[in-house]
Amino acid sequence: MGERFTLIGDVPTDTRAEFAADIEEGLRSAPRRIACRWLYDEKGSRIFEEICELKEYYPTRAETEILEVRSPRIVELVGSGVTCVELGSGNSIKTRLLIDAFLESTSELDYVSVDISPSAIRSGARDLLAAYEGLSVTGIAGEYRRGFEWMAANSEKKKLVLWLGSNIGNLDRPGGEAFLREIRRHMTRDDHLLMGVDLRKDKETLEAAYDDPGGVTARFNLNVLSRINAELGGDFDLDAFTHEVLYEVEAGRVVTNLVSLRDQRVRIAALEVEFEFTDGEHIHTEDSHKYSPGEIDELAARSGFERVEHWSDAGGRFSLELFSPGSTA
Ligand code: AVJ
Repeated sequence: MGERFTLIGDVPTDTRAEFAADIEEGLRSAPRRIACRWLYDEKGSRIFEEICELKEYYPTRAETEILEVRSPRIVELVGSGVTCVELGSGNSIKTRLLIDAFLESTSELDYVSVDISPSAIRSGARDLLAAYEGLSVTGIAGEYRRGFEWMAANSEKKKLVLWLGSNIGNLDRPGGEAFLREIRRHMTRDDHLLMGVDLRKDKETLEAAYDDPGGVTARFNLNVLSRINAELGGDFDLDAFTHEVLYEVEAGRVVTNLVSLRDQRVRIAALEVEFEFTDGEHIHTEDSHKYSPGEIDELAARSGFERVEHWSDAGGRFSLELFSPGSTA
């Protein structure tokens, strides 16, 4: 893809050993759990893209709508000459709306894309570079931590950090706050953070968004069992587990589980273990936390950020937040 693309960290690190250890620990815990980061292998990432197109899964469309309307304002607020650093960029489709707006006022833009999927980075970069002559892309294949390292090494650059898609929802509330503090630690005074946050809303809308009647989200969730089968020699019967979603109103949290449909034993060869599941037993796979506008205010304050401006879609379902690290950064 020429000189306008650099990929960092595309070395096959030993995720398989980490995967094995984490699955073993999670399945030995009570209640059992599988961390949601394992949902995103290549197949999982593709199914997630399908989720984003679902009628019931409103967050992607709501956030896109806000970016369509507000990108010029965002560019005006953060100023020219910024490097955009996107955490968890996936295929970078929504980011185009911002890139469009930036390239209205300047001829060149640097974009750094951090994602665990090197294939998503590559295909995203290919499309972006074909579409924008003035764009340079640095891909960082790895965990967010690798993005922070890049930020620390490039502190002289004025940055707009993008954390879109309400990815904060996967963290619990203290975890979200701690993560924001961590982002802020790697920012300097003139930098900004643009973050998407899904808002609290009625239970029906939320449960439908995570349990679509077409079963796409169920396939996404069950895919982690196929991954265990493929990569760790498991013998999970995918028909013997079902996808379950529950919105806990007070906690403001969508909880996703895989539920065993019968008493069964599952052997995982690479772990040399056989796990016993009882009928109805849960494996927790994902949480998605929702915020009220007041909670976002608190979140900003507690993590040391100033809430510069925020925008909602016409339906009031989702919030796009522009934070500044404040004067002490
Ligand atoms: C990628 C964490 C933002 O919680 O809405 C969507 C993940 N899982 N449907 C979300 C997800 C099932 C998504 N995030």
